[in-house]
Amino acid sequence: MNFQFQTVPNLICEPGASSKLGEIASRYGKRIMLVTDKGVRSYGVTRPGEESLLAAGLELVVFDEVVADPPSHLIEKAAGLCRQAKIDVVVSIGGGSSLDTAKLVAYLARSDDRLEDIYGVGLAKGQRLPLILLPTTAGTGSEATPIAIVTTPTTEKKGIVAPVLYPDWAILDAFLTLGLPRPVTAATGIDAMVHAIEAYTSKIKKNPISDQLALQALRLLAANIRTVCAQGDNIDARSQMLLGSTLAGMAFANAPVAAVHALAYPIGALFHVPHGLSNALVLPHVLAFNAPYAAELYAELAEIMRPGYRSASPAAGSSSFIADMTAICRDCGVPSTLSAVGIGEGDLPRLADDAMKQTRLLVNNPREVSHSDAFNIYAAALKAIGRWQRNDDRRGECHRKNVACI
Ligand SMILES: NC(=O)c1ccc[n+]([C@@H]2O[C@H](COP(=O)([O-])OP(=O)(O)OC[C@H]3O[C@@H](n4cnc5c(N)ncnc54)[C@H](O)[C@@H]3O)[C@@H](O)[C@H]2O)c1
Ligand SMILES: [Fe+2]
Repeated sequence: MNFQFQTVPNLICEPGASSKLGEIASRYGKRIMLVTDKGVRSYGVTRPGEESLLAAGLELVVFDEVVADPPSHLIEKAAGLCRQAKIDVVVSIGGGSSLDTAKLVAYLARSDDRLEDIYGVGLAKGQRLPLILLPTTAGTGSEATPIAIVTTPTTEKKGIVAPVLYPDWAILDAFLTLGLPRPVTAATGIDAMVHAIEAYTSKIKKNPISDQLALQALRLLAANIRTVCAQGDNIDARSQMLLGSTLAGMAFANAPVAAVHALAYPIGALFHVPHGLSNALVLPHVLAFNAPYAAELYAELAEIMRPGYRSASPAAGSSSFIADMTAICRDCGVPSTLSAVGIGEGDLPRLADDAMKQTRLLVNNPREVSHSDAFNIYAAALKAIGRWQRNDDRRGECHRKNVACI
C-alpha cells in the first residue's frame, strides 16, 4: 500500500499548557500577534496565554476581530496589520475560525501571494511566519491540519490546503475548553466525529495511519461527548474530547473529508449556521446515502462506537452506526432538521448547486454524489422539529463562570 503521511511537528497535550506559551514563542522572536475573537477573549480564555507571553518579556499585538466562518476581507486586514507591525510570531487561541485566520495571516504576512490566488490544494508554496495554535473548541482539529477555510465575497466556503499551513506547535490545553457553551460543545464535538468518520471512509487517500487515528478519535469522542454536554466542567472528559478532535484532525489531514462536509459548507456560508451543526444536519442522511457503498466500514465504526457490540452483518452494523450517531446528536440537543435553522424548501436548489462546487471534497466520498442526490439529501434533512441558537445568540452562555469564562 502506497501512501504519504504528514502532521504537526510539535505538540503539547496538558491541562494548563497555555502557561508555556511565552517560553515557546520566545524561541522564534520578540513581537507576537495574538489572533482570537472578542467572545473568547472577553470570557478570559486567552488570559493565561497572554500572561505567559508578557511574563516572557514579549511584545504583544492582539487582533480579536475574528468572526465565525472568517471572510476573506477580515483575513486580509489582519495580514496587513501583521506586516505593518513587523510581527515575528503568530499565535492563535480560539476556535477553528481563529486558528484558520491565524494560519493565513502567518502565510500572507511572509509570502508575496494574494489570498485569491491560493484557494485549492497545493497552491500556497511560499513561506510563513512561525505559528503556534491553541484550540479552544474540541472540534475542527485545525491545529493539526494543513487547511484553512475562508468565506469568499460570493459566500462560498473555500479551502486552502498546503503543507505550509501546519503550525510549528499545537498546544492542547483542555482548561481552555471548560467554558464552551453546550450548543458549541455539541456541534464542535459532532464536527470532530465527522472528521474521524469521513477520514476512515475516504475514497482516495484512506491510509493505515489515518485509520488508526480515526478509530482512536472516534472511540474517545463517542465515549465523552454526552458527558461534556451534560457536565461542561468535567476536565477529564474535556481532555479526552480535545485529544480526540486533534487525532481526528491528524487523520483527515491525510485522508480528506467528503460529502458530509461538502453539503455542510453551503449551509454555513449561506445561512451562518455553525460549522459543526451544519455537519450534524446532513450527517444521518449522507450516511444513509453512502451506506450501500460503505457498509463494511460503517459496521467497523459501529463496534468502535459501542464497546462490546459485534455486528451480525455489514448491513446490520451500518444501520446500528447510523442510529448511534443520530442518538448522540439527539442526546446532545443538536437540532435535526434544516427547517429548525430557518432553511426552507425554496433554498434547496441553491444549496445543491453550491454543494456540487465542493469538488475537492466530493471526490473523497465512498459514493458518487450527483446534483439530484445532493438535492434529495437536503430534502430529507429539511423537515421535522428542532431547536437551535445561531452564533449571534450564544454569547455569554457559560458552564463554569469562575474558571475559563468570566
Ligand atoms: N482548518 C481545518 O482543518 C478546519 C476543519 C473543520 C472546520 N474548519 C473551520 O473552522 C470554523 C469553525 O470553527 P469552530 O467550530 O471551532 O468554531 P468558531 O471558531 O467559529 O467558534 C464558534 C463560537 O464559539 C465561541 N468559542 C470558542 N471557544 C470558546 C470557549 N472556549 N469558550 C466560550 N466560547 C468559545 C466563539 O467565540 C464563537 O462564537 C469554520 O470556519 C470551519 O469551516 C476548519
Ligand atoms: Fe469540519
